Amino acid sequence: MASQPRLKIALIGLGRLGAIRARILAFQQPRIELVAACDTKPGSDEFVTQNLPPSVKYYADPEDCMRNSGAQAVLISTATATHAPLICLALDVGLHVMCEKPISVDVITTEEVLTKAKSKPNLKFLVPFCRRYDDSYRAAKELVEKGELGEIHAVETTCLDQQDPTGFFVTFSAQSGGIFVDMGVHDIDIGRYYLNVTSGLKNPKKQVNRVIAMGQQAVYGELAKYGDCDNGWAMVEFANGKVLTSHLGRTLTNGFESCTRVCGTKAHSVVNGNSTINRVEIRDGHGVRTATTPDAFVLYDKSFINDLAEFATAVLDGKPLTCTPDDAYEAAKIATALQYSFRNGVPVYFDDEGQPIMEVPRASGN
Ligand SMILES: NC(=O)c1ccc[n+]([C@@H]2O[C@H](COP(=O)([O-])OP(=O)(O)OC[C@H]3O[C@@H](n4cnc5c(N)ncnc54)[C@H](O)[C@@H]3O)[C@@H](O)[C@H]2O)c1
Repeated sequence: MASQPRLKIALIGLGRLGAIRARILAFQQPRIELVAACDTKPGSDEFVTQNLPPSVKYYADPEDCMRNSGAQAVLISTATATHAPLICLALDVGLHVMCEKPISVDVITTEEVLTKAKSKPNLKFLVPFCRRYDDSYRAAKELVEKGELGEIHAVETTCLDQQDPTGFFVTFSAQSGGIFVDMGVHDIDIGRYYLNVTSGLKNPKKQVNRVIAMGQQAVYGELAKYGDCDNGWAMVEFANGKVLTSHLGRTLTNGFESCTRVCGTKAHSVVNGNSTINRVEIRDGHGVRTATTPDAFVLYDKSFINDLAEFATAVLDGKPLTCTPDDAYEAAKIATALQYSFRNGVPVYFDDEGQPIMEVPRASGN
């Protein structure tokens, strides 16, 4: 039997997520061949030699990697601030692009990137939101689509990172754009996924009425200098009347929790009500205990496999993608408006063009 063609991919970025992606690309994707890996960080060549097949070539320079590795597509898994220029470079080189969320920390750059991607209709462009690729979230979506929950009127989410005593979240904040942009974009996307936010609109350009965010530096006081918080609350009122509420945090002590309640008129569905690592319970003098997932990489481990498989199928067989560039854009506008709302202590309304109405930001955070 003739062997199936495989998509040749280069991976840019070998950090926390990139290292996981590298192993998935090399060993868990039958339709993908990892041809190259690139990171500017010294010592990354050793990671490639020690962990990946000998056929994977290491590059220190992303442009060299994109132009000369023989890749047809690229997965960009670098720090957020570098996404936009790397996406544009890859598209100019003629590569299909998959890039970790978010495209950028500001809406104008996001728009520029999406205009560039739309100008290359022959190239696939995917920004995967991991919850859409999770089996439980997909099962809840099926319930919604079959009408088993009735009319979905609200979504409530929590996304709570494990507290990190090294202060990682403070240094991370300098580059991340803030908790609403970095973490909240997932919650916004999953809210949009279940709330059917493009239906029932008088003006199809305007999906959102208003947003408001509040936050605290409950543990990491230094986050204030980046206009950031370690616990944030977001409310989004969509133009079709549906509501999303989210609690985002970086201070949980038992692990990482990420729960979504889909509220329908007939029933509610709760995904990850208890973000356990497995189904084992310990019953002892403390009562009944379960172990919590340490981070998003463990809770959503299969999503990071499923999204790559979908990307390969989309390129090789011309199939559609679950997340569209417009989903990334709409989520980015809401996330940026929430970050602004928190920083400036005001609600943000959206205009008839669907743009958040934000003045030039005042000096600093709360
Ligand atoms: N659930 C999710 O979808 C999810 C989860 C975690 C992270 N992310 C996203 O993935 C991205 C990476 O996150 P991370 O936690 O792995 O970050 P990280 O800081 O651990 O790693 C980033 C890596 O990129 C490298 N790098 C930076 N600029 C580069 C360049 N120009 N060329 C080549 N390499 C470069 C750095 O040296 C570093 O090794 C972020 O944008 C983050 O938002 C998504």
